[in-house]
Amino acid sequence: MSATDVQEVVRTELLISEITEADRQALAALWERYDVFRGVRGTLDFIEMTWQNPTSTILLGKISGALISSVTVGYDGHQGWIYGICVDQPARRHGHGRATIVAAENWLRGRGAGAVALQVRFTTLSVLGFYDKLGYSFQNMVLLGRNL
Ligand SMILES: CC(C)(COP(=O)(O)OP(=O)(O)OC[C@H]1O[C@@H](n2cnc3c(N)ncnc32)[C@H](O)[C@@H]1OP(=O)(O)O)[C@@H](O)C(=O)NCCC(=O)NCCS
Repeated sequence: MSATDVQEVVRTELLISEITEADRQALAALWERYDVFRGVRGTLDFIEMTWQNPTSTILLGKISGALISSVTVGYDGHQGWIYGICVDQPARRHGHGRATIVAAENWLRGRGAGAVALQVRFTTLSVLGFYDKLGYSFQNMVLLGRNL
């Protein structure tokens, strides 16, 4: 996706575009600052794999070149998945989280996804109000998983 595709949904000065190689260290630092990423692989490995995978990407929101927000997005052919929405603390409550999620939704729409799902940890349930504002609701199911 070009930067132009996603910028149309962005409020004011936040520019959202796909991650580049030069962004990886700053993104890992952002995620580690807010404990966003947890996985069996290291943060940089996860970034690399998500970036290289043809059906997923990481979108970054920047202001004047500084990293402000991130979201991981992927499409499995059935529905879209959003992970790791994060806005740097000083920039929160200015609409950047919403703009970043909307950019991820548009990325998914552009690939034919008709629905999107996301997971919220029990330790971060305070974020549910944010998702409610964006139209996300509880689905009548339980998420199961295991490491491979
Ligand atoms: C959750 C997060 C991304 C929100 O980013 P943000 O830039 O502050 O969000 P926005 O300003 O775009 O908020 C959009 C709306 O949600 C509301 N909102 C934002 N955070 C909220 C919260 N924690 N609880 C309730 N409402 C919230 C805003 O007031 C706004 O409402 P409005 O449209 O009526 O004005 C940010 O707080 C964050 O990065 N948190 C840490 C990482 C995290 O927990 N990620 C979620 C993992 S599941």
